[in-house]
Amino acid sequence: MKIDLSFKYKDLLEHINKEKPFNPEFTIILGSGLGDFASTVDVKKSISTEDLPGYPPSTVSGHSGKIIFAEADSKKLLLFKGRIHFYEGYKIYECVLPVFIAHKLGCSKILLTNAAGGINRNYSPGDLMLAYSFNGIDIKKELTQLIGLTANDVKSAFVNLPSSQLNSVIKKASIKENILLQEGTYWFSKGPSYETPAEINMMYKFNGDAVGMSTVHEAIFAASLKMEASSVSCITNLAAGISNTKLSHAEVTESAKMVKSKFERLIKRTISFI
Ligand code: HPA
Repeated sequence: MKIDLSFKYKDLLEHINKEKPFNPEFTIILGSGLGDFASTVDVKKSISTEDLPGYPPSTVSGHSGKIIFAEADSKKLLLFKGRIHFYEGYKIYECVLPVFIAHKLGCSKILLTNAAGGINRNYSPGDLMLAYSFNGIDIKKELTQLIGLTANDVKSAFVNLPSSQLNSVIKKASIKENILLQEGTYWFSKGPSYETPAEINMMYKFNGDAVGMSTVHEAIFAASLKMEASSVSCITNLAAGISNTKLSHAEVTESAKMVKSKFERLIKRTISFI
């Protein structure tokens, strides 16, 4: 069944339209443990997602549920502090709601940030990785239900995904800031459990570099709406079986916090270049 998102989220969009101080030019979804970035920008308006009719409630710690209109370097930003995950039991159209809101507010560029496990043996926890490709094989079936989109919209989404323009800007920012930026394929895993070593070994054999439980469907949906979408991962841990440490959400959010300043510098410089 196809759902008309503009109709389904009519009240929510009306609410945001009433509250918004401006239309954003750049949207950033802040992933697990990366939400503190919002405290480094000039906040103009913060809306709690609890106050938005129909917004799915967050069930994950480290995802506080705020939509923030802010400025940095004279650029108008929309930040999502917290995201909606498929593993929380939400439908695909709910998971892409932040992208839809950004699009409805006229925003054409979106940066999807996330915490991810490193599959590539050359990565270390604390590295940042720019996605040059996505593996969404685990979410393709759900994407076909993506609401309001025709098969052709979804097909054409892959023409520039991730956005080559936005990726170049992020790369330029990393060079300027002297930050090592790995580049690789981000592999979507449905979760909610972390992967098994056997699953990671399969991803490794198929050129997966990092694995996480978000982003790919958001990117595909954004691109199908003709938005430029890119992804930066914070490698918070080595994926299952690559190291002997037991994975936990606490480790993921702790490691993300450790790279806070590097992440902030990269994003700030990116904002100044867009
Ligand atoms: N697997 C999946 N998602 C993740 C991981 C991981 O190892 N680390 C952070 N998010």
